[in-house]
Amino acid sequence: MCGIVGYVGKRPCRDLLVAGLEKLEYRGYDSAGISLLEDGRIDTVRAVGNLANLRAAAGIEPDGDGAVAVAAPPATIGLAHTRWATHGRVTEENAHPHGDCSDAVHIVLNGIVENHSELRAELSEQGHVFSSETDAEIVAHLIERNYDGDLTEAVRRSFNELRGHYAFAAMHAEQPETLVAARQECPLIVGLGSDEAFIASAIPAFLAETRRALIIENGEIVTVTPEGASITDAAGNPVERDADQVEWDEDTAEKGGYATFMRKEIDEQPDSVAETIADRLPDRDRVDLSELEIVPEFIAGMRRIVIVACGTSYHAGLVGRYAIEQWARVPVEMDIASEYRYRDPVVGEDDLVIGITQSGETADTLAAMRLARERGAKVLALTNVMGSQATRDADAVLYTRAGLEIGVAATKTFTTQVAAMYLLGLWVAQHRGTIPDERLAELIAELKAIPHKIQETLDSVEDQVKAVARAEHEGRFFLYLGRNIGLPICLEGALKMKEISYIPSDAYAAGEMKHGPIALLDESTPVVCVATESPTLEKMLSNMEEVRARGADVIAIATEGSPRVAEASDLAIEIPRTDWVLQPIVAILPLQLLAYHVARMLGLNVDQPRNLAKTVTVE
Ligand code: AGP
Repeated sequence: MCGIVGYVGKRPCRDLLVAGLEKLEYRGYDSAGISLLEDGRIDTVRAVGNLANLRAAAGIEPDGDGAVAVAAPPATIGLAHTRWATHGRVTEENAHPHGDCSDAVHIVLNGIVENHSELRAELSEQGHVFSSETDAEIVAHLIERNYDGDLTEAVRRSFNELRGHYAFAAMHAEQPETLVAARQECPLIVGLGSDEAFIASAIPAFLAETRRALIIENGEIVTVTPEGASITDAAGNPVERDADQVEWDEDTAEKGGYATFMRKEIDEQPDSVAETIADRLPDRDRVDLSELEIVPEFIAGMRRIVIVACGTSYHAGLVGRYAIEQWARVPVEMDIASEYRYRDPVVGEDDLVIGITQSGETADTLAAMRLARERGAKVLALTNVMGSQATRDADAVLYTRAGLEIGVAATKTFTTQVAAMYLLGLWVAQHRGTIPDERLAELIAELKAIPHKIQETLDSVEDQVKAVARAEHEGRFFLYLGRNIGLPICLEGALKMKEISYIPSDAYAAGEMKHGPIALLDESTPVVCVATESPTLEKMLSNMEEVRARGADVIAIATEGSPRVAEASDLAIEIPRTDWVLQPIVAILPLQLLAYHVARMLGLNVDQPRNLAKTVTVE
């Protein structure tokens, strides 16, 4: 999740742009850059690492350390960017802004261009020369190809050639009073000042300069000059919209208008899941994980898969196990990394060991990965952080694309890990030929629809969840019950509740109830049941009856249109229907929200719970 900022106006803008990037640091990044247009020439500075490196590279004096400062160039138009690498390594060349062949067009982009490889091939054939490994640079060359003196028209034509999940801004050396930007899913906002205007991926970037914000919607192109902004749709038809007045205080601004980082990150899940699957599902019937550089022969012949992880990542692995075994018919062994590393595991060269770790720095998971590698296994790291230790302790790396997660309680990194496990399951099945082509195409279509189903769920369940939180937040104990692929979701729901509300919570395979845990129940026990469509729903319904017979409150997560679940519960929270193996990635959302609202009602700090660190690097 990158950060983009643009400025056009009367003031020298270098420092304004860098200040804007600083306000977007919460989006996380590994490199940054700035381009300034002056006298028909664009100058660019890029740097790997944090903004201090960019400041140093641009000769901007950090406050008061006496470095030799380069006077701010008088440029009054420019673009700047913080990069969270998804395509191409963390290098200066891959940092944005990117230029076209003659450096006349410069762009910054947040998101993913899905059809980047075919466009790159086409443009290269026409003589375009690329200077980075990124998908984003494509856009600069497309605008170059479409430019005939009108930047707005060139951006509009280029926009219609792109597929993906992105927002970008462009400038042209011949047009020093104009910035043009476009949005397809990723956020884009214009800040309107007097005789100046900003473009940004989030309001905090310009809030210190103006509180008038113009929200750009999906499929729109906006042309920005010092005088103001004009919007068109992708066909070029004008769109009228008024700017909003933003009343946020500094703290809220830092959280992008949310009260907490956790709540913001819950809402970012449609985007982060979409970016994680985007270009890995380039066609209707094929999964492309060629980035893994694992030879198909190994996948076709491997004996089994072993997944090692901790905490929430372990729960994502559990969902992955069900999906991989269901689709690829490969045996999957799961283990908590802190156990795996000390149990002298039987593992060897015919095994694929997957270490799941969002931070890429969790000591137990790293040790488990190293142990497996020493014993000859092929090791795959599933991580959210480019350049993290896990990427160095693995033979191959699959990146989730959640962007920086600040809230200690993992939310968007969990759903992106689950999405990545689904990609892996389908990819292995594709290589081993265990799913008929039509079925594979069906599942790919369902997976592509998941980001929208996540958005739909977030828009529809919150009031019901809040009502449950109001009724139950003073409870002494929460029990979560599930079966089959619903069980990992219960484990994750209970972990969230424990982590941020400090209320003792347990998750159990529903079939285990009668073997002991049922003794825990009384009239006051809230029992959250994950009862989505699955081959074990019948069994789950009878377990819910068992629980209700002891007077406990049954709150069920149900697939839409499941009257029997509603009958068997005190409250059924419905989520959109999808393939039963994919339901968990949506079913977790009400459970994230439940823990969140219970903790908020208890007045607790959900972003930084007691006794917990975001990354556990100690043994
Ligand atoms: C989850 O909310 C917790 N922050 C914690 O359990 C976490 O999942 C665990 O420490 C693993 O972290 P990792 O994914 O960075 O390895």
